[in-house]
Amino acid sequence: MAILVTGGAGFIGSHTCVELLQSGEEVVIFDSFANSKPRAVELIEELSGKKVRLYHADLLDANEVERAFAENAIESVIHFAGLKAVGESVQKPLLYYHNNLTGTFHLIDAMQRHGVKRIVFSSSATVYGMPKEVPMREDFPTGQPENPYGRTKLMIEQILTDIQRADPTWSVVLLRYFNPIGAHKSGKIGEDPNGIPNNLMPYICQVAAGRLDHLNVFGNDYPTHDGTGVRDYIHVVDLARGHVKAIAKARSFQGTEIYNLGTGIGYSVLDVVHAFERASGVKIPYQIAPRRAGDIAECFADPAKAKRELGWTAQYGLDEMCADAWNFIQKNPNGL
Ligand code: NAD
Ligand code: WQD
Repeated sequence: MAILVTGGAGFIGSHTCVELLQSGEEVVIFDSFANSKPRAVELIEELSGKKVRLYHADLLDANEVERAFAENAIESVIHFAGLKAVGESVQKPLLYYHNNLTGTFHLIDAMQRHGVKRIVFSSSATVYGMPKEVPMREDFPTGQPENPYGRTKLMIEQILTDIQRADPTWSVVLLRYFNPIGAHKSGKIGEDPNGIPNNLMPYICQVAAGRLDHLNVFGNDYPTHDGTGVRDYIHVVDLARGHVKAIAKARSFQGTEIYNLGTGIGYSVLDVVHAFERASGVKIPYQIAPRRAGDIAECFADPAKAKRELGWTAQYGLDEMCADAWNFIQKNPNGL
């Protein structure tokens, strides 16, 4: 029996596949390589010493989704596949709604046809919108995500919750990630964005590598300890291990459960810059720029529910996240 991992070649998916394979699971990857490369799949096999079956296909192609289920004994699904660039989702909302929602519909359809009723979904802290307080708990009301990308995450959470309500024998685990950064200790897989990065850590890495000249710090007048935005950065390997625990959970219950995957610690933009400088020995020039539209001052998790119910806590701190991100960039100056 195998786990179908949609988006398994991507940043979080590739690290999760390594952890799943190392824990003895069989893995089938379904990925269009819209935002990843086939090389990632070879590296997953190299790092785990195990083989995976690969479907180089798009979730928008319902026939290919059907084929993956027909040709394999799938027992659970981890659904990473989706487009995730916040700014692009504002420019091209239909692309995001179609890719993320229609792709999910084809997946659920095939699951229903094949009697597969366990799914772990990649959601995001963005579904909390503007939180009234931090740390954020899973029982906080969901807010108004600021952009079409975030809205697809909230909609998919709601769709999966409705599917489970209609058929109570489903097990749905919704994982709300905070800010995943870092890379595998080997430096072989990591975050490999196309073009100029939107997110903080890949941007810092490119400044450190000399490909970008300086970091723009978006706002230093937030009500935080140094005025810059505070986030809950989590090592991608910790996040990947959270999925191994989430699969165990999905096998042990029927219902819908939501878990925050974060460390519970908030760091500011300047905290991250300084930690990165310590880890790499490279100075990161930065300039204070205006606030970025849609940003909130502080966002960090209360991860107690994941600890209590999944037996999961993050192990790595910010220094290791920075060191591992930098190791990956140095080993892969031109990406994967
Ligand atoms: P990623 O872009 O590296 O990985 C997503 C993968 O899905 C890519 O390999 C891409 O090729 C694939 N994909 C996209 N659309 C597809 C389609 N229609 N058919 C088949 N494959 C498709 O992103 P990531 O950072 O690894 O994120 C994984 C998931 O976690 C996404 O759903 C994302 O929204 C969610 N998430 C990410 C973050 C983050 O900060 N990285 C935070 C919260 C949630
Ligand atoms: C972190 C902090 C910025 C870049 C995003 C998505 C969210 C989720 C995770 C998927 C903020 C500041 C950034 C830069 C900066 N993704 N910053 N200069 O915005 O917390 O979350 O990724 O679900 O939905 O919105 O992450 O890394 O972009 O920003 O000062 O060049 O760094 O203002 O305070 P964010 P981020």
